[in-house]
Amino acid sequence: MRAYRWDGSSLWLLDQRRLPAEEVWVRCVSAGEVASAIRAMIVRGAPLIGVAAAYGVALAAKEAAGGPFPDGAPAGDRLVSSLEQAAGTLKAARPTAVNLAWAVERVMRRLREALSQEPAGSRGAAATAATAVAPDALARIAEEEARAIASEDEASCWAIGEAGAPLMPEHGGVLTHCNTGALATAGIGTAAGILRRAVARGHSLRIYATETRPYLQGARLTAWELIRDGLDVTLITDNMAGYVMQQGFVQAVVVGADRIAANGDTANKVGTYALAVLAAAHGIPFYVAAPYSTVDLSVSSGAAIPIEERSPEEVTHLAGMPIAPPQVSALHPAFDVTPARLITAIVTDRGVLRPPYESSLARAAAVPPAR
Ligand code: MRU
Repeated sequence: MRAYRWDGSSLWLLDQRRLPAEEVWVRCVSAGEVASAIRAMIVRGAPLIGVAAAYGVALAAKEAAGGPFPDGAPAGDRLVSSLEQAAGTLKAARPTAVNLAWAVERVMRRLREALSQEPAGSRGAAATAATAVAPDALARIAEEEARAIASEDEASCWAIGEAGAPLMPEHGGVLTHCNTGALATAGIGTAAGILRRAVARGHSLRIYATETRPYLQGARLTAWELIRDGLDVTLITDNMAGYVMQQGFVQAVVVGADRIAANGDTANKVGTYALAVLAAAHGIPFYVAAPYSTVDLSVSSGAAIPIEERSPEEVTHLAGMPIAPPQVSALHPAFDVTPARLITAIVTDRGVLRPPYESSLARAAAVPPAR
């Protein structure tokens, strides 16, 4: 299962707003269109918006490679500023998941490096640095880096799944929140990847998927993709989590992440924090699963993670239908922060990290990424 396709000149995205009712693909041919698709949640999930944005930069580079170059030479400064502008638009599409800015910056770093190489024979010449590389070569470099980001994410998902599967009960219930699967990544998923690998290894799991108001990623996406894989999924509304834990139905909780601060505080889909508090109250292990690209060591604690505020209309309406009086005000933070002290372990492609997270996260920075 793949939620994106790259055909060499456009990025195709499976419109996640319309699942599970319809499988509709949306074509993006510019960085601006990719940024709009990210904002509109056509594509979502921290790793996958990173992959999509990386291809968005590749589209901007392709566009730049097309000219116009009136004097036959690439207009260096215009080229650089159009790429930087596209990168800025993509990074601003959604603020919380660090994978987005990380992926855009990774492609831009390759482009800046290429642009700063002095062309052979021009040493000392007045040529601007930005004219050193042919624009079509630039487009190829961007595309190559986007492909690398996608294939590394696929490998990361597999590594997370393999590292996390042994943490799952042999027989029992596991609660998960939002969607962290193939619709949120370029591979088998993070938390969902752990569930997939555990079941493949013979664990008998009943998966409790929270519906995840207001976007219903759990009901519409997690249930859809895990049932397609033959997993045993039971859907609950978000406010049933306490009940299923109290009844002893749940032996572990595993969720994804949008940004993990240097101290282990983790931003993830709103509602995650409440699940962590409930898990702690019931003595249930609470695992976070994420590729290392979700770790942001530049942010010391969760207090500094920007939380995306989305339209209150997404709360007051369900599938376009009003479910509240028009006068009511509504709050819509898309994410919340779970303090590190509530997290039993963080499962990454670089291994299972345990508290204290300041040191385990910092040490993992030196571990090579999964390939
Ligand atoms: O708003 P969304 O659907 O992009 O939020 C997604 C989540 O919060 C996921 O848990 C997170 O991005 C990890 S996806 C592997």
